[in-house]
Amino acid sequence: MAQRVRKAVLPVAGLGTRFLPATKAMAKEMLTVVDRPLIQYAIEECLDAGIDEFVFVTGRNKMAIEDHFDSAYELEATLEQRGNKAAELKLTQAATLKQGNAIFTRQQKPLGLGHAVWCARHWIGREPFAVLLPDELMVSSPTCTAQLVTAHEKTGGNIVAVMNVPREQTKSYGIVAVKPEKDGLAEMTGIVEKPKPEEAPSTLAWIGRSVVLPEVFDHLDRHEKGAGGEIQLTDAMAKMIGNKPFHAMTYTGQRYDCGSRIGFLEANVGVALNRADTAAETRALLTRMLKG
Ligand code: UTP
Repeated sequence: MAQRVRKAVLPVAGLGTRFLPATKAMAKEMLTVVDRPLIQYAIEECLDAGIDEFVFVTGRNKMAIEDHFDSAYELEATLEQRGNKAAELKLTQAATLKQGNAIFTRQQKPLGLGHAVWCARHWIGREPFAVLLPDELMVSSPTCTAQLVTAHEKTGGNIVAVMNVPREQTKSYGIVAVKPEKDGLAEMTGIVEKPKPEEAPSTLAWIGRSVVLPEVFDHLDRHEKGAGGEIQLTDAMAKMIGNKPFHAMTYTGQRYDCGSRIGFLEANVGVALNRADTAAETRALLTRMLKG
C-alpha cells in the first residue's frame, strides 16, 4: 500500500518579476483574491486533502507569510473586545496553523523551483509529499491536491496534475508525454520543460500540483541546471520515469494563473462570481461596467 501523504512543500521564494512593482517588498503569494491571500487557498487545499504539515520555502521579503499563519494576539483581543466582530474573529483564527505544524526555511538564492524543493529535504525526510505552487489557484471539489492524494493511494509513485493547453503555449510549461489515459490517469513516458510548439510531445501541461517521491532529492542533490539556467523540478522528476510508478492526472477543475496580471484579475472575478456572499453584487458590477 502507498505511504500516506502527510506533508506539503510550498515553494514561495520566487521573485515574482511578472508582478513588479507589487512584489518589490511583498510576496506574490500574499496577493489577495477577494478576501484572502493566495497562500491561504493553497493551505486550505492541503487541509482538504488531509495534509497538515507544511514546509514553506521562503526568501527575503516573505515574512508576511509566516505572520499570516501565526495567531495575531492584539488583533484578536481587539476584535473580541468590540463584541460585534465574532465573524471577523473566526475568519482571523481560521487562518492560524496548528502549533509546530509549519516550518519556514529560506532559499537563499532563487536558483529555480527544483532548488527550492531541495531546500525542504531535511524536513520531508523519506516519505512522499505534495508540492503546490500557490500562485496557481485551483478551484474544484474535491480539490486538485485531494484528487492527487486519492490517485496516489491507488498507484503509489509520482503523480502530477496536467491540463490541456493551446499548442502555441507549450513553451510556458513542462509538457508531458503519456501512454493512453485510463480513468483520468495516464502512465508518463517523458517530460520536456518549455518545448517549442512544434517539438512538444503533447499539449498536456504540468500545472502546479504534484505528489512527489522523496527519491527526487537524490537527483536534486546534483544541482544540475536545466531550461533557463535554473535547477528544474521537472528534470529531477523526469529521471524517475521508468524506475518508479509515474502518472499524470488530468485535472478538470478551474485553474487561475495568478502569477500573471490578467490571470490574477480573472481569479478575483471568477472566485467572486462563485461565492454566495459576493456573486450577485459582482454580476451587477460587471454588467454596469460593461454597459458604461
Ligand atoms: P515562477 O516561475 O512563477 O517564478 O515560479 P517567480 O519568480 O515566482 O515569478 P516570475 O516568473 O518572475 O514572475 C513558480 C513557483 O516556484 C517558486 C515561486 O515562488 C512560485 O511559487 N520558485 C521559483 C521558488 O520558490 N524559487 C525559485 O528559485 C523559483
